[in-house]
Amino acid sequence: MPDPASNELENALEQAASLLRGVRRVAVLTGAGISVESGLATFRGAGGLWEGHRVEDVATPRAFEADPNLVWRFYNLRRANLATVKPNPGHFALVQLEQRLRDGFTLVTQNVDGLHQLAGSKNVLEIHGAIRRVRCTGCGLTLDRGVDPLADLPKCAQCGALLRPDVVWFEEMLPDHVWPNAELAVKRCQCLLVIGTSALVYPAAGLIDKARSRDAKIVEVNLAPTPATAGVDIALQGPAGILLPDLIKRL
Ligand code: APR
Repeated sequence: MPDPASNELENALEQAASLLRGVRRVAVLTGAGISVESGLATFRGAGGLWEGHRVEDVATPRAFEADPNLVWRFYNLRRANLATVKPNPGHFALVQLEQRLRDGFTLVTQNVDGLHQLAGSKNVLEIHGAIRRVRCTGCGLTLDRGVDPLADLPKCAQCGALLRPDVVWFEEMLPDHVWPNAELAVKRCQCLLVIGTSALVYPAAGLIDKARSRDAKIVEVNLAPTPATAGVDIALQGPAGILLPDLIKRL
């Protein structure tokens, strides 16, 4: 007997493919879920704690002020972890979608892991920064330091002040050279693909409403329903590393 759940997914995949075949401008919003199949943990799933701290308690300006050693230890571990992971078929499927759409493709990511670029995606907007980069708390200089370990309390070679990870922490504004472009891409797109995000963290999650208010079609790919699911046009439930290659193959 055919499994009704797999029939439903098959129909949803076909619908999403037919939608994507008919549009020229696509924006994509990704979150931690797309990197799960590369071996990286999500923020809010099981294992979301680090040494007993909630991520929300380590990734804040206040935490850095109170205990920069603790915060750097956390980020140095995350950097070291990145050296061991590779992009997965979900990342590569988005590279193929960009090749198909060329200038009509914008990838907005909340991830700081750099895996989209490593896969080969070109037009990537990192709205929460990048874990490979450091930024000087004194002179503001930013530098790509790769994933090699840094000193416990790394200092700026230019001015000697303390460096921080160039990521957006809770309670901070999004980078003003990136965020307006993300908003613009979402306002202009005909279809927004929302992949592997819990859609809980704003303003990123607000991009979904922005796209909808401009009549873009919304396609969500997630292992589980999210607060956004009820309002999307097509919900594809399952692992991004399997569903995205399947979807792109159908185009
Ligand atoms: N395929 C698709 N979705 C998946 C997969 C998978 N293999 N595995 C997990 N997911 C989904 C989960 O169901 C969840 O909805 O990915 C989502 C991950 O959610 P979060 O951990 O909340 O990650 P994200 O939405 O990226 O968090 C947003 O919060 O912690 C801050 O700044 C950080 O950028 C991050 C932001």
